Amino acid sequence: MASSIVHASKGQKERKENEVIASLDPLNADGLIGQIPDLNKNKDVNSLVFSTKNLMPSWPDLQEFDYYQANAAIRDIGILLGSIKRHGVEPYTVIPDLEAKMKHLATKTSMPPRDTLLHYTVWNPAGDRKRMYTGTADEHYLIDSVVTAIDPLVCAIYLLKELHYTPLHSGDFERICDQVVGHFQKVIDGMVLARRNVSLSYFATELRLYFDPIMLDGREYLGPGAVEMPMFVFDQLLWSCDCDDVEYQIFKKTYLPYVHPEMRKIYIQYQNRDSLLGKCYKNIVKKNIDFDPSVYTSMRALRMCFQQLKSFRMPHKKVAEEAYAHTSGEHHGCDHVKNSISQDYRANGSGGYSPDILSNIVKLTNQKTAKLDACIAFYELKAGRSFVYPGS
Ligand code: HEM
Repeated sequence: MASSIVHASKGQKERKENEVIASLDPLNADGLIGQIPDLNKNKDVNSLVFSTKNLMPSWPDLQEFDYYQANAAIRDIGILLGSIKRHGVEPYTVIPDLEAKMKHLATKTSMPPRDTLLHYTVWNPAGDRKRMYTGTADEHYLIDSVVTAIDPLVCAIYLLKELHYTPLHSGDFERICDQVVGHFQKVIDGMVLARRNVSLSYFATELRLYFDPIMLDGREYLGPGAVEMPMFVFDQLLWSCDCDDVEYQIFKKTYLPYVHPEMRKIYIQYQNRDSLLGKCYKNIVKKNIDFDPSVYTSMRALRMCFQQLKSFRMPHKKVAEEAYAHTSGEHHGCDHVKNSISQDYRANGSGGYSPDILSNIVKLTNQKTAKLDACIAFYELKAGRSFVYPGS
């Protein structure tokens, strides 16, 4: 019970932070925001650059900003940087002091020196103040689908962390798994919202181009694509901190800088430790513990968490493949940088990967689910039960 209170207060803290940052307008950008979609539609790069120069805070203002104001400032500069880059111009070449000022904001916020998915979604105000590249219904829904999903995902991550401290024979284990399943349902709902309301061809040929990486200080920083959700932190706790798949490890490290500092902390804390799956395997197979109905119940409850993950990943992969089929003619290959990340962003996902990475992640998720099924089946044999576990 005490652990649930901890989790509830963590969730409230996140929500409070979202509300505070979304409410702020430290650069007085509210008046400009409504014009950005038209400037983009007209490919008016000169006006975009002019507006960005006007919006850039002075050094004294920058020094004054607190954590919340600094994040709101990154959000508002970011929407302009993504717009300028979409029309083929590297922002640092046209905005004086951009690199130094963004670096300063990054230090204040412990975030990258550009906007991330958090800035674009949960730190983005609703209604007339919503910061958008195109102002289209598709973009509204894309933002809303991530808003639907991201806080519940964070709650589910804190709950998985609690499971790491909950013994398998405790009745709390099943209760916490049920809560994980409940929160994760919102992640699936977010995906369904996007699938129903975002035109995949429009996403592939227009929207994602605003998420292109920009250069700052000699390196690339990725744009605010949904791939920056802390899904890999969920994986980390559930099955992947003890998984040695090199491609997935590179993927996780690529996105680690873009998630919330709290999520980064959890990810790092669980590096090189047993995942929840690993703990089940050790107890059931290696230690060969005696049959205990409450342990069995816990494992079946954990299996439901894997099921939810699969229920997100399978349809999401289909959506991605369908969307990128619209650009297949432009595809030029994707295996030349950091093993699988590609510099050819226009041919790949907004995070720079091709949808191929999703096949690997889905494959791993299925393999790990099968491993849990094998543990459960092994345990059932031990109990001398004759029924077959339906998930196996
Ligand atoms: C128009 C709909 C969407 C398309 C076409 C799409 C496409 C993609 C692609 C191609 C990737 C590979 C990485 C990359 O971007 O380079 C990816 C990854 C990812 N996307 Fe999406 N996506 C869409 C919507 C969403 C939504 C609504 C969510 C969350 C609610 C989401 C969450 C993720 C996550 C978490 C990953 C990382 C891989 C994983 O953990 O399975 N995506 N997406």
